[in-house]
Order: sequence, then structure tokens, then C-alpha cells
Amino acid sequence: MRLSRCSVSRASTLINQRQRAAAPAATPEPEYNRTFENGQAHVTAINPATDEHGILKLTPLKNFVAKKTPRHYPLPPEAVDGLKQALVDCLRAPKVLQHEADQITEKLSQRRFPASSKEVQAARKTIVEQLKSKGESDAFLGPEYFSQKVNQAQDRYLQREVSKKLKKTRYNWKPLEFDSREEAAAFTLSRLPAYYAEVRRVLAEFSRVDFAPKSVLDYGSGTGSVFWAVRDTWSDSVEEYCLVDTSDAISQFAMDVMRGKGDQTGLIEKNVYFRRALVPSPQKKYDLTIIHRGLIEIGSHEKRLELISTLWQRTNRFLVIIESELEDSFEAVIQARNFILTNGVKMDSRKVREELAEHNLLDETTEAILHDRQMSYSEKYALIRERFPDPAALPTFIETGYVFAPCPHDQGCPKIDLPQGKKSCKFSARWNELRADGRTKSKRNDGTGTSMFSYTIMEKGMRPADTVSPSRVLDVKKASGCVTCTTCTPFDGLLRFPVSRRAGPLYKLAKTCAPGSLFPIDGEMVASTSEYHVVREMLKEELGKSRKR
Ligand SMILES: C[S@@+](CC[C@H](N)C(=O)[O-])C[C@H]1O[C@@H](n2cnc3c(N)ncnc32)[C@H](O)[C@@H]1O
Repeated sequence: MRLSRCSVSRASTLINQRQRAAAPAATPEPEYNRTFENGQAHVTAINPATDEHGILKLTPLKNFVAKKTPRHYPLPPEAVDGLKQALVDCLRAPKVLQHEADQITEKLSQRRFPASSKEVQAARKTIVEQLKSKGESDAFLGPEYFSQKVNQAQDRYLQREVSKKLKKTRYNWKPLEFDSREEAAAFTLSRLPAYYAEVRRVLAEFSRVDFAPKSVLDYGSGTGSVFWAVRDTWSDSVEEYCLVDTSDAISQFAMDVMRGKGDQTGLIEKNVYFRRALVPSPQKKYDLTIIHRGLIEIGSHEKRLELISTLWQRTNRFLVIIESELEDSFEAVIQARNFILTNGVKMDSRKVREELAEHNLLDETTEAILHDRQMSYSEKYALIRERFPDPAALPTFIETGYVFAPCPHDQGCPKIDLPQGKKSCKFSARWNELRADGRTKSKRNDGTGTSMFSYTIMEKGMRPADTVSPSRVLDVKKASGCVTCTTCTPFDGLLRFPVSRRAGPLYKLAKTCAPGSLFPIDGEMVASTSEYHVVREMLKEELGKSRKR
């Protein structure tokens, strides 16, 4: 939706009308400046998910050091050399391997998560309806109409028809398997450059904090892309890389790539450990745990959450989850994020009560909080935490965590409410093509490719209360004299608003933004048509009055 020049005054009139209707006492109409005055400017913002309007006060973010995140990550020369060397030792001709690699690229671009049992049931129902309407099957008259034999035959027929149709859709999911070194080679040739670029781009998020992992766990390590990306991000700090993959063929090939040119013995780094499963002891933890395009390999939603719970348990500080940009992948990432957020504040009431009783802190108030059915888990958690003897030791189902990136908040994802096709939060990374057939580029590309993905980085502990996370830029449209930004904000969901040249320094800042980057401007909603905002403002006013009294 485009915003006209006088939209601020129109929105302000609309908002004032609504506020007058809602608030009993008349409040003076505030002045909203549209040019950069007193270090701020006001713009009209629209929430694209709810269509609510508001007026946003924009101020340059204090202490924000803008860092341009590179988008293009060519594979490091050691990995290129290692891959070339490993390919030479394959039994298949390079041209054949390249042909297979191109086929894998094509196939994987359409790969979907396995459907849940609910989705399969729904699909079966639709198919049955279709068959019925075509009169192709009489089986649905009901078993009482036919003999047992006829019923069984009809059921078999139906099952065949259903599975034939399901195969054509995304329900034909199979886990990735590598039966030979050559299969692993073709997969690595196809995917290593792209996967490396994705992981590098995500790891660039850590440049804004003081973090250098000593130990790294890569679950579903496949081609070894995570190893190369971590090595190039923190070359000196890592003392241990643990690469877990159930497939020997792909791990062997990843090892060969790491051997480097002509070195048939050791790997390029001494501290790399390949494993088929996690170290049994749950005490063994890693500073950084990464699961990159690994959730899609797990057959059911329940097993995926079980795995996330295990990986979270094995994490000292950060857990990174990366999947493709497709909607079902994005939903799986959001489900994993929400699982940690919710279970991290869900308290074990029995243990909490015991601990409180031990410290003589179990009173009417704490009992009332623990029994309240209206309060959310996070509200209860926050209230009990204030009263708990050692807040860090408050017993929860899993360790408490918050979203480090890309979301600036821990609430539900506002994109999930958007219509189909717009839901996923997509990020991109460019990579250089690497081919084994002597060509420098494929027919379609210019020698580089772009990979799209979605991700989340979860950090252990509580979101720091003293700092507000900057909004995340989701989209930027640049026109002459105006930049229209769509951002995901810490408190107001999604917001779309224009920043025109009149906003001076703010316009210059907005012009530097790219999708996926942090927004260098603070936005405070000063008025909004959102009921939530009106109520919030009224409560603030009431609170102010009662404090004065
Ligand atoms: C798409 S690849 C992952 C991408 C990987 N980061 C890379 O660089 O290739 C998925 C990998 O997960 C492995 N895998 C599948 N199921 C697994 C499981 N249950 N545990 C560990 N690894 C698994 C597969 O063998 C495969 O190598």
C-alpha cells in the first residue's frame, strides 16, 4: 500500500477521533513533526498483518554502529582445493558427477517437509471426496453393503489410489541417503558452496556480540559446510568441532575434502571429531550448536521437537537452526523457536512449591500465581521469578531461552498471520559456482548462485531487560526521495512506513538498509488505531494519575 504525503495528518486525525471516543477526558492534540526536528520525525505506519495505522516517532538509534553484512561468500580456497582433490578419487567421470549434482540441485529446491499425520488424513479425505464425486469408487457406501472380501479389495484399491496421488505432492518425503562415495560426492559438489554461504551469512549475526565459541556441535553435518563457515568466522578460538551425521558415506567424503591438497593423512584442523551419534553423556555441552537443514530429515513433528530439546540441552550458549525459505521449513523453524520459548518458562510447579516452602516463601500470593489459569506461562514465570530465592535456578521444563536473531522479540511470529506465500522470513546469500565439467558457469547462472533460507538463533537465559533490540528490516523499497521500509519491531509487530527526504538524517540512515539487516532507527508508536495501543495509553494515563495521588 502506498502512503500519500498528507497521510501523517490524516492518520493523526483518525487516531485522535478514536482516542477521543475511547478516553473519557479530552486530551490536547499532540503535534507531529514530519521533518527532522529535535532529533526526531513522525511518520504514518501501517501494520500489514492487521491493517492498523499508527504514528511512529523515529529517532536515530543511540550507540548503533552500522555494520554492512556481506551477502556474497565464496568457498575458501582450501575447501575448493580439497573438494577438487576428493572428486579426482571418485570412480565416476567428472561430467557424470556434475550431471548428477545438477539433478540434485533441481530436486532439493522443491523438497518439502514430511506432512504431519493430520495433513495426510486431510489429503486422504479430499481424495476420497474426489473419487466419490467421479463415481470411481463405491467403497464409501459403507462396509455394511458388501461382503468382507469386497470391502478389503475396495480398501486396497483406495489405498493405492491415495498413495499414487500423494506421491505427486509434497507428501512423497524420503530422508536423504547416500549409498556410495559417488553419491556423497555429487551431493557435496551440488550443495557445499551454497550451504557454506548460508551458514556464513547467519554467523555474521554474532559480530555484534563478544562471542567466540570454544566448542561447536554440528548436527547433521553432511558436506561439512558448517565446519568451513565456523572456521572462517572464528579461526583461532575453536578447540573442538563435533560433526554428527548418521551417514558414513557423506562423513567420509567431508573428511576427504578437509584433508586438503595431497595430504592423505591428517585433516586441515586437528580438532575435528566425526561421530554417528551424539556423545552419550548429556553433561557434554557445546558453546555453539548448529543444525543446518537437518530438521527436514526428521520424519515427524514430535521427533523434531525431541531433537530440539536434546540439542538445547547440549548447548552452553547459542543454538542455531537453519532451514530453507519455503513455508513449511519456516514453520518448522518457528515451531522449534516457540518450543524453546514456551517450555523455557513452563515451571515444574511441584519443585517450585517445594523450593519456596523450604525458604518460607510459599504464601497466598505465590499459591494464587501458581494456580492461576488465566495467566500465560511467561507471566507466571516472571512473577514467581521475582519471588524465587535464586531466580537463575527456577525449575522449568527446559532451560530458559530467548531469540537472539533475527526476531527482536519473543512473542508469536507476526508473519504467520499473513496470507499464504508471504509467511516466511527469507534471507539470502550468494555463492560462487563450482563445476566439475570444465564449464565456469551453468546455463542458467552467471557463475554465482543465490541461496534463500530461514533461520533462528536462540540464546540461553533471559532477554536483557536494559536494552531494546533494534527492529529487523524485512523489505526496503527505494524510490526517488522516499524509502518505504517494512520492519519487524520489538513491541508493535510488523510495520510498514515511508521515510522521506524531509526526514534528513533519518532518510540517509533508512537508505543504507537492506533486507535482513538491523534497522538503525528507533521507532516509538506514539498513537495508533490499534485497540491494544489505545488501552495501553489509557492504562499509562491511569497509572500516572494514581501515582500523583
Ligand atoms: C541436508 S543435509 C544437511 C546439510 C549439512 N549442513 C551440509 O552441509 O551438508 C542433512 C544431513 O543430515 C543427515 N541426517 C539425517 N538424519 C539424521 C539423524 N537422525 N541424525 C544425524 N544426521 C542425520 C544426513 O545424512 C545428511 O547428511
